Amino acid sequence: MKLQHVVESQQFTVPLLMELFDRSRRMERLVARGGTHDYSNRIMATLFYEPSTRTRFSFEAAMYRLGGKVLSTEQAKVFSSEVEGEQLEDTIRILAGYSDVIVVRHNEAGGAKRAAKVSPVPVINAGDGKGGQHPTQALLDLYTIHRERKSLEGLSIAIIGELDEGRTVRSLAYLLSKFDRVKIYFVSPPEVQMKPDILQHLEEHQVWYALESDISKVLGEVDVVYQTRIRPERVADRKKLASYTLDGRLLKAMRSDAMVLHPLPRTVEIDKAVDDDPRALYFRQAKNGLFVRMALLTLVWDGE
Ligand code: CP
Repeated sequence: MKLQHVVESQQFTVPLLMELFDRSRRMERLVARGGTHDYSNRIMATLFYEPSTRTRFSFEAAMYRLGGKVLSTEQAKVFSSEVEGEQLEDTIRILAGYSDVIVVRHNEAGGAKRAAKVSPVPVINAGDGKGGQHPTQALLDLYTIHRERKSLEGLSIAIIGELDEGRTVRSLAYLLSKFDRVKIYFVSPPEVQMKPDILQHLEEHQVWYALESDISKVLGEVDVVYQTRIRPERVADRKKLASYTLDGRLLKAMRSDAMVLHPLPRTVEIDKAVDDDPRALYFRQAKNGLFVRMALLTLVWDGE
């Protein structure tokens, strides 16, 4: 199936997602054998205007496991010609002459779309701005759920945290809207609840959702607890923030077959005591990012 650029979750159909997940499983087996040299003629450029641990390193590891090579700058805001006033579009045109795919994390929502518009090589959005999207994160989130649960139909999920500016949760909501009988609880302080554009999209696709501010009311209901950060400065009543932390006490309210996910990095919203619980899958989720990103790279090139 053809996939030129990866800029937003809405691009993905259910058959394309299933193909991506099949490929990701194959990549898991490939990595267990040490990888391949099949893509030794390929070069990936990673252009990150914001910090990253998981996304940049997993894309770079993905490329090395496929046998390819990597061009990278650790901090494009400092170590690219943006410092001299170069526009993103010009930087992309230049990098496209040196590489076969550009993975870009931009500080403005819509940055990846701008890049894709001028790029003759595939552009992959590694997260753009506040309130933009982070589609590859949502793809690995969904892969993790699918891998554990085998199906996404009928999934119930609590998405918790600072949701209005959360690019990972926005991308995840778009992907979830593609599956039947999904139930989404958005759990957050009211001032940082999910934005109307996503809620409208869910309504248009007849997806059940509820807005909630009390985490304890939903924990026992759901298959997936998807936790994210809340920046204290964005919340009026900071004393209430502690009530959004998943700790040993709240864990007891969860179903025994549920799972805890988090795009990471975390600060205080998941207590370290949760890490040893078999339902805590966030480190496995981050590792799955390697396989999903390997699969994505091969998918964009196979579609050429
Ligand atoms: N989840 C995520 O995007 O992590 P990084 O910021 O470390 O890439």
